[in-house]
Amino acid sequence: MIRPAALAVAAIALLLSACAEKEQSPEPVTGKELAAAAEPQIDPVTGFKMTGDWELVRGNCTACHSAKLVTQQRGTAEQWLAMIRWMQKKQNLWQFDPATEERIVAYLADNYPPDAARRRAAIPPDLMPENPYRN
Ligand code: HEC
Repeated sequence: MIRPAALAVAAIALLLSACAEKEQSPEPVTGKELAAAAEPQIDPVTGFKMTGDWELVRGNCTACHSAKLVTQQRGTAEQWLAMIRWMQKKQNLWQFDPATEERIVAYLADNYPPDAARRRAAIPPDLMPENPYRN
């Protein structure tokens, strides 16, 4: 037969061990904290994310215009490459060797990928001012 006192001792021991375990386990880490820890530092001069090939991009993409023009833009690898081709065709941007170009495009697409639309939704016509050009 199990004596009630023994049961009580067992229950207390169990409770204590549960408490001890709880104390040992670290605070749960939230997704937000994880994301903040993974987020690269920002270069105070250019605003580029300081990760991967950022210095290569700084060296090639800030000679003609502010880095802000780059960091405010978003795109897939194809879209970034298309912007580079446009600058090469129209804006005197130099040619890159294929390996360098690949690294630049990869940095841009990884760190400045397409995100949710950042333009506001269109204003409904009934909330717009009268169109002065309508006849
Ligand atoms: C040889 C000069 C030159 C270099 C180097 C250069 N760009 Fe440009 N870029 C331009 C010019 C000129 C414009 C147009 C600026 C304007 O509209 O005021 C431009 C515009 C842009 C725009 C804005 C495009 C848009 O649709 O508004 C982005 C993004 C951009 N460049 C990214 C880059 C990246 C990334 C690099 C490095 C691979 C780079 N640029 C290097 C000349 C250059």
